[in-house]
Amino acid sequence: MTSSTLSPVLLEAQDVRKVYRIRTPEGHRDLVAVNGLTLALRRGETYGLVGESGCGKSTVAKMLLNLEQPTSGEVTLDGRVITSLRGKEMREVRKDIQVIFQDPFAALNGRMSVFDLVAEPLRVHRSAQGKKLREEVLDLLDLVGLTEEMADRYPRQLSGGQRQRIAIARAIALRPSVIICDEPVSALDVSVQAQILNLMNRLQRELNLTYLFISHDLTLVRYMCERTSVMYLGDIVEDGTTAELFDNPRHPYTQVLLSASPVPIPQSQRPARVKPRGEIPSPLARPSGCPFRTRCPLAQQICAEEVPQLRTITPGHRAACHFAETADVRKLA
Ligand SMILES: Nc1ncnc2c1ncn2[C@@H]1O[C@H](COP(=O)(O)OP(=O)(O)OP(=O)(O)O)[C@@H](O)[C@H]1O
Ligand SMILES: [Mg+2]
Repeated sequence: MTSSTLSPVLLEAQDVRKVYRIRTPEGHRDLVAVNGLTLALRRGETYGLVGESGCGKSTVAKMLLNLEQPTSGEVTLDGRVITSLRGKEMREVRKDIQVIFQDPFAALNGRMSVFDLVAEPLRVHRSAQGKKLREEVLDLLDLVGLTEEMADRYPRQLSGGQRQRIAIARAIALRPSVIICDEPVSALDVSVQAQILNLMNRLQRELNLTYLFISHDLTLVRYMCERTSVMYLGDIVEDGTTAELFDNPRHPYTQVLLSASPVPIPQSQRPARVKPRGEIPSPLARPSGCPFRTRCPLAQQICAEEVPQLRTITPGHRAACHFAETADVRKLA
């Protein structure tokens, strides 16, 4: 563990909830994408947010970036509420909180050269022009491991890894303190993934960055993150230090995820494979009580009747399960 466990909170979501009103054949319905979630990133750390497709990870990212307005709750950056900021005020804050998406091809305008792509944030915020702009762009390319010759190329002439480096150069151009990384390497080959993750780690040290690292891949989270939250159907079901989550998962959902993940641990110590029953329920029809109970191999009557609160099991480790102290899906295998 690094010293960032003791650092002050930099970016915080306080009880944020996002409900989308959507049209269905049966009429308008409320889709609960994020169900009141609290998350605090400390300066200098990499915080993991992990969960299956559709559990609300990107919606959390958008609320943190103020690209989506929460239905309720608020987001603070360095103690300042940013949720309702607009226009000029938000543009100032945007310098400090940047984003990297999964698909750098979609995120980069194909008609712009690498130079112009990396220069764009500097131009928009008028932080550099002329010779100084050129120097800054070349410095940024160097920082992300690209050479000057790249400057005249276009995104279609680059590999996936090179494109993601450009996206990272754009994200760090204005020297933000936080970068929201939404599945930043999921579209890349495994060997390229490692290069980009190493780049992210180096930049974090050099530029004192704080990352929210969003992924469905537990192996990557374990490699990158000091602390992690596990999401299921719009809720955080477990959070704590990544080491503790992996070594002593307390929520049946985390246990199931871990047992299904190809984590690099010896066969003899590997948890037995346990599959959750059935499919993830629709966020249009959240189960009563515990959101996971319809798939949980350990579910009891109380799980349908009472919503389990996210509560402290050991210091710094919380789980939202009525049976968190004793739950062990591996015993069923
Ligand atoms: N603009 C929107 N309007 C209506 N529903 C939405 C909207 N955006 C997201 N949703 C729904 O909210 C839920 C959470 O979506 P979200 O994109 O946050 O999930 P995710 O965890 O990022 O998934 P993935 O791993 O596939 O990226 C999903 O059921 C999704 O269909
Ligand atoms: Mg997503």
